[in-house]
Amino acid sequence: MESSLRFSSLAFIALLAYFAFLASAELHVREFVIQPKPVKRLCRTHESITVNGQFPGPTLEVRNGDSLAITVINKARYNISIHWHGIRQLRNPWADGPEYITQCPIRPGQSYTYRFTIEDQEGTLWWHAHSRWLRATVYGALIIYPRLGSPYPFHMPKRDIPVLLGEWWDRNPMDVLRQAQFTGAAANVSDAYTINGQPGDLYRCSRSETVRFPIFPGETVQLRVINAGLNQQLFFSVANHQLTVVETDSAYTKPFTTSVIMIGPGQTTNVLLTANQRPGRYYMAARAYNSANAPFDNTTTTAILEYVNAPTRRGRGRGQIAPVFPVLPGFNDTATATAFTNRLRYWKRAPVPLQIDENLFFTVGLGLINCSNPNSPRCQGPNGTRFAASINNQSFVLPRRNSIMQAYYQGMPGIFTTDFPPVPPVQFDYTGNVSRGLWQPVKGTKAYKLKFKANVQIVLQDTSIVTPENHPMHLHGYQFYVVGSGFGNFNPRTDPARFNLFDPPERNTIGTPPGGWVAVRFVADNPGAWFMHCHIDSHLGWGLAMVFLVENGRGQLQSVQAPPLDLPRC
Ligand code: C2O
Repeated sequence: MESSLRFSSLAFIALLAYFAFLASAELHVREFVIQPKPVKRLCRTHESITVNGQFPGPTLEVRNGDSLAITVINKARYNISIHWHGIRQLRNPWADGPEYITQCPIRPGQSYTYRFTIEDQEGTLWWHAHSRWLRATVYGALIIYPRLGSPYPFHMPKRDIPVLLGEWWDRNPMDVLRQAQFTGAAANVSDAYTINGQPGDLYRCSRSETVRFPIFPGETVQLRVINAGLNQQLFFSVANHQLTVVETDSAYTKPFTTSVIMIGPGQTTNVLLTANQRPGRYYMAARAYNSANAPFDNTTTTAILEYVNAPTRRGRGRGQIAPVFPVLPGFNDTATATAFTNRLRYWKRAPVPLQIDENLFFTVGLGLINCSNPNSPRCQGPNGTRFAASINNQSFVLPRRNSIMQAYYQGMPGIFTTDFPPVPPVQFDYTGNVSRGLWQPVKGTKAYKLKFKANVQIVLQDTSIVTPENHPMHLHGYQFYVVGSGFGNFNPRTDPARFNLFDPPERNTIGTPPGGWVAVRFVADNPGAWFMHCHIDSHLGWGLAMVFLVENGRGQLQSVQAPPLDLPRC
């Protein structure tokens, strides 16, 4: 009797503690109204698709453990869906967002509420449209602070500044895409890069709107750099100031200082910057890292870091002094890009899977589809072809009648197959002079099945078909460890011996070195259909994608949740 009393009071205290814990987690209820809005850039006004009329879209600030309920109301004329890039969405693929993969798009006039919880994640992530090229203007930062009272592994500055890098077309991006899809040629490159939506001083009609970041002398700030651009890796640097990298893709790193970072589409990088230079004005600037043999936007976006005590010019020509310009690497400086990426280390010992259950080898790269009539207006790619891209020679085609996750859950046949190849159909010298007979991929909608909790390794091998290139490969629903990389063809006998299984960086997006390979590992502990694709939207449209179908484990806690009632139908 007495012991049961003691037990119940203990249980009561435990219950109280549990409620206190729950009470510290918040629910963030928001509305995202997708609507056109006039946006003026480069001297011209476009009816851009926005969230709540904002460009870039609203920043979401939450804590680890919080829940979000974001109702997306589509008042635009396009189908749309929103992806929470980097959020793991444990057992909840319904909130992930890629259209035709985990949901059907939200049609004009319809709405859908994304409900999800942040489980053991903190740092900088972002959200963006996951429907054709709508993410050109539909994107924003998603910042996850640690739980109340939980420390950072570095001295966190008081001020925290999101720096969203974007790409701007002086046209409707959806028309740019439509034209490319019709002709089969590469889409037009962007007309400007932007920092927090503004091109900066080096573009026409932009100077008066250039973004300025005031800073106090001696102050340290954190920049949360996000590459929200559609198609281009970028170099980013701040004149005269060193950057200390502390986080990539919402995973802490061992801090290191650098004067320049390279950031691929989809990636985020947090850096600390100390205002320890002469009081003045300094440009922060971003421009292309172009690893491919292909046209690219070679312009430079700028914002201004402005010391509050910067001197002004006196007398004639009075006003602010001209900002100092940073040194940026050359456009094709793969050596600098690689040196930067190779310095990244997880902040502590990483729980890397050591025994591998699924050893996958994926060739990633471009291709060309031959046309029966090469003079056709629909075959304006190289030598009368249409551009394509593939993984293991499979060029991914989105289903139309249903999403893969819904078809899987409902057991609806005919939407996709599960025979995605674990290795390429033929072996060849991937980074050498590839014979023309291997340039044409096969179209299909194939997924690869993974058992719950399987330890997975994927070697992503770039090919030199059409051109070698850095492909920023993004995996939904997971964070992976980048255990190794190199140039040339991956050698399964000698390369694994040099893997970093101690403190490899954790990421959700990693670029293949151009003409090289990168190896990643993760545990398949999140059931559902998860998209893996190149985060260059041109390549995604050409089919550089596949789907992992991770099976349920045992019981409810290892199985996909029931879909929400308002999940859009196709
Ligand atoms: Cu950030 Cu599938 O995308």
